[in-house]
Amino acid sequence: MDPYKGRPSSSFNGPLWSTNSGAPVWNNNNSLTVGSRGPILLEDYHLVEKLANFDRERIPERVVHARGASAKGFFEVTHDITHLTCADFLRAPGVQTPVIVRFSTVIHERGSPETLRDPRGFAIKFYTREGNWDLVGNNFPVFFIRDGMKFPDMVHSLKPNPKSHVQENWRILDFLSHHPESLHMFTFLFDDIGIPADYRHMDGSGVNTYTLVNRAGKSHYVKFHWKPTCGVKSLLDDEAVTVGGTNHSHATQDLYDSIAAGNFPEWKLFIQTIDPDHEDRFDFDPLDVTKTWPEDIVPLQPVGRMVLNRNIDNFFSENEQLAFCPGIIVPGIYYSDDKLLQTRIFSYSDTQRHRLGPKLPAAPAQRAQVRPPQQPLRRLHELHAPRRGGRLLPIPLRSCQARPPLPHPLRHPHRPPREGGDCQGEQLQAARGEVPFMGSGKARPVHQEMDRRTL
Ligand code: HEM
Repeated sequence: MDPYKGRPSSSFNGPLWSTNSGAPVWNNNNSLTVGSRGPILLEDYHLVEKLANFDRERIPERVVHARGASAKGFFEVTHDITHLTCADFLRAPGVQTPVIVRFSTVIHERGSPETLRDPRGFAIKFYTREGNWDLVGNNFPVFFIRDGMKFPDMVHSLKPNPKSHVQENWRILDFLSHHPESLHMFTFLFDDIGIPADYRHMDGSGVNTYTLVNRAGKSHYVKFHWKPTCGVKSLLDDEAVTVGGTNHSHATQDLYDSIAAGNFPEWKLFIQTIDPDHEDRFDFDPLDVTKTWPEDIVPLQPVGRMVLNRNIDNFFSENEQLAFCPGIIVPGIYYSDDKLLQTRIFSYSDTQRHRLGPKLPAAPAQRAQVRPPQQPLRRLHELHAPRRGGRLLPIPLRSCQARPPLPHPLRHPHRPPREGGDCQGEQLQAARGEVPFMGSGKARPVHQEMDRRTL
């Protein structure tokens, strides 16, 4: 299997200019005119097409993570985790899967410097035999907020002031100070690792909690972590000023030059897993994206390694048109009830419908390696269940039910409030028994339960 088949490549470069339809272009320098001084003829097909292509060659930049660099390579399983997941690409040590990775900064524009104190995006598209899997993460293991409702407000506070178009610290601190749960990520951002030296020397994390499902249908909550084999390196503030002042694309160039020189960046993939039946045994909520899972309690388990050994052939189609979405999963990996993750499942494809338009799935970098076979539709409750070779694969039943209420918040002072809201006043009222938490009461199945049941 050639993972790059059908993808843009400089090997397609030919000696002739051609129109979009492939017809040769004999004159690319002069328009067709009536006489030597004009006017220009509308029948100059190449001129009209050339201008039309040019007029449309910019697409809107990403609303966040606009500035990024990508590279290609492979993921290789090094440790057997088939007791945890039936994902086909994790079926045995030695199995390799092609990947494309996009690293990014978050807040500033497409042409902004890569030396700013800002989280870094770390998004990987695995081209597996059963469709693509997108693991869309960051370089920090936690996030500022735990409810996607606040994401636009959070981003607006970090973006430049809408009046002056200048980023202002008071706007950021105003938002974050009203959200104490953001302090954890804040400490990462203002620690030394707040300005990574480049994209090769930084950790990656899936951040959200996902679910692994094994063949027997048993689920485990999972968090994903990437560790670079060349170690983590960062820039001090004054170093960042010098590096950024010399080259505002230093991280893009570092990635490109390293790969071109054969110095391939490599990361090891680790997971942490928690049995959902034991989620109440911790003094933190495993689905709260503002918390880490302590490694001394939930140890890192090695899974594989990722090597980036190919530069992209075309920045536009393999970076600008590249589209990741946490909703894109493969059998054996599923979402969790992590509220932030659930918001993300909607938001990415939605923004891409605007950013890339209806042709989004046709962009070369999005195309799945192997189109999953069409399955005949069966009974209603089987519609959503994944299959392999005609055999039904399990999905977690838990993800379709309201999570049972946790014990009284006063007995767990460090535990965040649940569906009752993040507002301190509500917490206290609920603790005094004045208003019930909305999430309290018996677990109830939601409307999809019958349709999505494990079969
Ligand atoms: C509810 C919370 C979030 C929302 C609504 C959200 C929304 C978005 C949107 C709209 C984009 C632009 C996508 C595109 O134009 O293709 C984006 C990009 C991105 N987001 Fe989020 N995001 C959220 C949280 C997170 C979190 C928690 C992480 C880290 C785990 C993350 C990592 C990324 C990355 C890495 C990209 C860039 C992907 C690329 O390189 O194309 N986001 N996000």
